[in-house]
Amino acid sequence: MAVPNWLSDAILYQIYPQSFADSNGDGIGDLRGIAEHLDYLAWLGVTAVWLNPCFVSPMRDAGYDVADYLAIAPRYGDNHDVAELAEQARARGIRLLLDLVPGHTSDTHPWFESSARDPEDHRYVWAQPGPDGKLPDGFVRSPGRRPGGYLPNFFDFQPALNFGYARQRADEPWRQDIAADGPQANRAALRTIMDHWLRLGVSGFRVDMAYSLVKDDPSRAETSRLWREVRGWLDQTHPNAVLLSEWGDPAVAVPAGFDADFFLHFGGPTNGRPLRSLWSNGISTEYPEWTGEPCYFDADGRGTAGVFLTAYQDALAAIGEPGHIALPTANHDFARLQAGPRAPEQLPPAFAFLLTFPTLPAIYYGDEIGMRHVPGLSDTEGSVMRSGYNRAGARTPMQWDSGPNAGFSAAPPARLYLPVDPDPGRPTVAGQRADQGSLLHTVRDLIALRSAHPELGPGGRLEILSDGYPLVYLRGGLFLVVVNPSDRAQVLPHGRPDLAEATAVRNAGVTLAQTTITAGPFSFGIFRL
Ligand code: NOJ
Ligand code: CA
Repeated sequence: MAVPNWLSDAILYQIYPQSFADSNGDGIGDLRGIAEHLDYLAWLGVTAVWLNPCFVSPMRDAGYDVADYLAIAPRYGDNHDVAELAEQARARGIRLLLDLVPGHTSDTHPWFESSARDPEDHRYVWAQPGPDGKLPDGFVRSPGRRPGGYLPNFFDFQPALNFGYARQRADEPWRQDIAADGPQANRAALRTIMDHWLRLGVSGFRVDMAYSLVKDDPSRAETSRLWREVRGWLDQTHPNAVLLSEWGDPAVAVPAGFDADFFLHFGGPTNGRPLRSLWSNGISTEYPEWTGEPCYFDADGRGTAGVFLTAYQDALAAIGEPGHIALPTANHDFARLQAGPRAPEQLPPAFAFLLTFPTLPAIYYGDEIGMRHVPGLSDTEGSVMRSGYNRAGARTPMQWDSGPNAGFSAAPPARLYLPVDPDPGRPTVAGQRADQGSLLHTVRDLIALRSAHPELGPGGRLEILSDGYPLVYLRGGLFLVVVNPSDRAQVLPHGRPDLAEATAVRNAGVTLAQTTITAGPFSFGIFRL
C-alpha cells in the first residue's frame, strides 16, 4: 500500500486544543487561537497538525466522549472555524487532521439516549442478565427504560458502539453479527462523519482506539477487515486523506488499512515496551504492570536502544515502508519528554534521534521548547485514569511568552483549563526564539535538515553501527548520526577509518577519529560521509 506522498515526508505536530492558545479570554484554547499561531508552526517546519477531539461533548473525558460527531464544541468555535483553519494551514503547507472516535460515544449522545429507551435499537452493545441475575463482566446497568446493561469502551460513560462480535456464543445470545443492522449502521455512520470533515478541508484523522471496534476478535482480523473497507472507500472518495491509528502495533494496524500507526506506551506484542524503552522514566503516567526498566534517553546510561530498534525492524519487516510508523515525543495520555529529573540538556539528543530516524516524527505541542510534565495536578475532565495515572501533567497550557498566563490566555489564572506550569524558569517560545542556542532552534534546525535531505527521512536506508552509548547509525549511505543522551562521554571503537573524514553538518559534542567516535555528555552529531 502506498502512503500519500505528503505523509511520508511529514513532520507531525499534535495540538491539545484546549491548551494551545485561547483567543477570546475564556481560559480555554480554541480554533482561532490555533489559527493565530500557524505562522509559528510554519516557521518551525511542521507539515501536519492533529487536533484532539473538538466536537460537542460533555467533556468528561476531555472530548473523547462525543455527543455530536458533526459539530464543533462551542468552546472551540464552530464548523466554519475548522474550514478556515484548514484553509489557512494549507496556505502555509500544513495539513489539518482531526481525531475520530469511532469506538464509543458519550452517554449523552442522542444515539445512546434512544438506544437506552428502545430494546430494538442495536447501535450499542446491550446484554441481558444471566440466570444468576448478573450482567456479564464489565457491563453497566442501563440508565434508561431498556432492561439489561451496555458495554462501555473506556470509562463507564463511554458506551461502545456496536460493530458486532467476531465470534458468537450460545450462552451470550445478545452478541450480534458484524453483518447485523446495528453494526452496519455504525459503519455507514463512520463514512458520513469522515466525509463531513474531509469536505470541510481536513486531510484525515487520528483514529482513537482503532483496534477496539469488533468485539471478541482474536488477532483483530474482523476489525482489520472493517478498516480495510474504510480505506478502500477513502481511496475512491478522498484518496489523499490519511488515517493514523491509535493502535500501538504498526505491524497489525498498517496491514489493516492505516496509513501509519504510532508506537505508543501500550499495544503490540510487548504492550508498549518499545516506546517506553526510549523515553519513559516512570513519571505520572505509569501502569502497575510496567517493570520500570531504565530507558535509553536517561542520563545514567543504563538503557538500551536495542529494544526499540528490534521492534522497529520487526514492524518494518511486516509492512515494508518506514513512512508508516510514527514515533511521538509524548502525547496527551503519556508523560512529556521533560518529565521528572530529566535535565533540559537531555532533550537535544532525543530530538536528534527523532528527526534523523526513518519513522515519522510526531512532536507533542510544547515538547519543542522542553515544556515540563507538571506533577500534582487535580483530576481535570477525566485526566485521572486510575491512581498513579494522571494525564493532566502533559496537558498544561502552551507557554508562549513571559506575559500573564505565559501568553496562553487573558483570563484570570483561576479560569484556565489547567494551570500554567508555575516554575518561574519555565521555557517559552518567545524566550527560545530569541536564543539561537535554545532547544527550539535546535529542533527547528533538525527539522529543516530532515526536510532538505530525503536520506534522513523514511526514504533513506538505515544501517545501525552501534545500539549502545553512543547510538550510531548511517542514513541513506550519506549521513552518519551519533547520539549520546547519557551524562558522560562515551567512546565507540570502530574499524572504519573513513568515518574520521566525515564533515560535520551539525555537531554538538562529538569527535570522530581514525579508530574511535567520542561522544561527550548529552551530545549529538550529524556528519556527511
Ligand atoms: C485514547 C485517548 O487517547 C484517550 O485520551 C482517551 O481517554 C481514550 N482513548 C478514550 O477515548
Ligand atoms: Ca477560548
